[in-house]
Amino acid sequence: MKRKALSLILALTMLASLVAGCGSKKEETTETADTTVAADTADAAADATGDSDLADKKVGVCIYQFSDNFMTLFRTELQSYLESKGFKAENIKIVDGANDQATQSGQIDNFITEGVDVLIINPVNSSSAATITDKVVAANIPLVYINREPDAAEEQRWADENMNVTYVGCDARQSGTFQGEMIAELGMDKLDMNGNGKVDYIMVEGDPENVDAQYRTEFSIKALEEAGLTVNCLTDQVGNWQQDQAQQIVANALGQYGNDIEVVFCNNDSMAMGALQAIQAAGRTVGKDIYLVGVDALSEALEAVIAGNMTGTVFNDHFSQSHSAADAAINYLTGAGNEHYIGCDYVKVTQDNAQEVLDMVK
Ligand code: BGC
Repeated sequence: MKRKALSLILALTMLASLVAGCGSKKEETTETADTTVAADTADAAADATGDSDLADKKVGVCIYQFSDNFMTLFRTELQSYLESKGFKAENIKIVDGANDQATQSGQIDNFITEGVDVLIINPVNSSSAATITDKVVAANIPLVYINREPDAAEEQRWADENMNVTYVGCDARQSGTFQGEMIAELGMDKLDMNGNGKVDYIMVEGDPENVDAQYRTEFSIKALEEAGLTVNCLTDQVGNWQQDQAQQIVANALGQYGNDIEVVFCNNDSMAMGALQAIQAAGRTVGKDIYLVGVDALSEALEAVIAGNMTGTVFNDHFSQSHSAADAAINYLTGAGNEHYIGCDYVKVTQDNAQEVLDMVK
């Protein structure tokens, strides 16, 4: 069933790339191809060695924060996929960094002492990656980073020093671009409700240390500008990926700027759900007098898109990312090895395809 789901995603992705069709997408298409090759290699390697070889292998997984909605989907899928590949449940240990780098660093030290065979790490602070890499590599344990991408210099070091370290994730620039395109496609007649010739928006950002937040903020607006629209940022604030913080930010902004707010951009769906609560409490109606977009395609956001309470979202494919992360771990264990970057594609979600995506993620 998941395979069916994945082919649907692939089809949607290809369609999205065709529709988007700008220069930077080329790179992303290549990355998708690489991912497919990497996944196939992993399948072949796992099949060749047989599940019994993996049954005794120990995997340590560090998640930056269990209460994060998206990372909950990710780690649940990761656990079941690792088991489906032959790892024993008791050999898969997933720990909660509680959004504290010191806590997570201690957990990594414990995994090293326990002698895990491979580590999958969603860092609390991606800026700590160099320190993490050094100690994990010194312990001779292969390492798969997920979700929070270390910077380019750190990734270059893995290649230069031939380290068994890789990153699995989607390129957040694409998700930002898709958000901007969904808004731009509405056209100025619908968007410019106050008639000032500009798209007046507010931005609610995730954790600013996270490259996903930085890129989504930048590229959503770039897409509007590239579509020839003039933009006006009323306020840009940090909601730390959290629904309650976003609700407060948007409620305050609606109080301050009122009907001048035409679009609310949220870096993820949890925050978009908070924004929606504030929008409805202020008596505004999405699709009529305000527009709202998020990222992730959480079930509740997909339901909101279907009901017309959100303009759109972007599917952040936790199936593909968790499977690729597990496959990369297996590739290290079997000796097949990995590229140092394993990408995946986002998918634009509007009212046209929200039901299909919901059927697949449910
Ligand atoms: C997701 C967010 C999540 C964050 C955690 C992002 O890719 O879109 O929902 O909070 O990852 O790092």
